[in-house]
Amino acid sequence: MHVLIINGSPRVKKYSNTNAILEKFTEGLCENGTTFEQFEISDRDSWDRIREAYYRNTEILIALPLYVECVPGLMMEFLETLTPKGDGSRMSFLLQGGFIEGVQLRCGEAYLKIIADKLGCEYMGTLVKGDNFLIRFFKGEWIDEKVSAYADMGREFAANGNFDSKACKKFTGHEKFPLPVRIHVGHILSTQAAKGFEMIAEAHECDKPLDYKPY
Ligand SMILES: Cc1cc2nc3c(=O)[nH]c(=O)nc-3n(C[C@H](O)[C@H](O)[C@H](O)COP(=O)(O)O)c2cc1C
Repeated sequence: MHVLIINGSPRVKKYSNTNAILEKFTEGLCENGTTFEQFEISDRDSWDRIREAYYRNTEILIALPLYVECVPGLMMEFLETLTPKGDGSRMSFLLQGGFIEGVQLRCGEAYLKIIADKLGCEYMGTLVKGDNFLIRFFKGEWIDEKVSAYADMGREFAANGNFDSKACKKFTGHEKFPLPVRIHVGHILSTQAAKGFEMIAEAHECDKPLDYKPY
């Protein structure tokens, strides 16, 4: 199998968490002879080449971060330049985000299913996982361990050609935190985190309260 991988993050490759994830994912993917070619949406100069690869390949994997609960705008702009295929191509997605609960990525997942359909490709599933905020800030064992789990998912994808296996579903982790944890986190956000944001606003010489609604 040969896979076209498109990194849909607006961040340049060097700083993209999606790219760090893909580095591990492709290690597992390629262990048994699967090959891939990868492009970055953040590099606008390569859009013609990405389009050419999209029309040439039949196994397409789009990896993307969730930005404000949505597909990144730059990726949408690119997707809007594509014509539907209808040649038996298969499309899968690797959707990742910063917040931990799987539930907040489900709306994006449902939307990606629609995108595959609109592009005339068979939908082969979405690998869903949050808790990735810190990848770009830290290196070392802790991050390596976190990202290395994606190598297993690369192996799963190479073996099945989709993200439907039990292991892929389990990979999401917590769908929702238990109620006591949610209450606790809500409390921290409305107290300590709110204080932190006020301090940041003050440092930027903001003289209005954070909940100021002039309109
Ligand atoms: C502007 C912005 C909006 C974001 N919105 C969300 C969000 O709604 N949900 C989420 O889980 N993570 C969100 N994140 C976190 C990113 O999805 C996360 O850090 C991701 O790993 C970034 O991948 P990238 O570096 O490849 O772009 C947001 C990050 C930024 C910068």
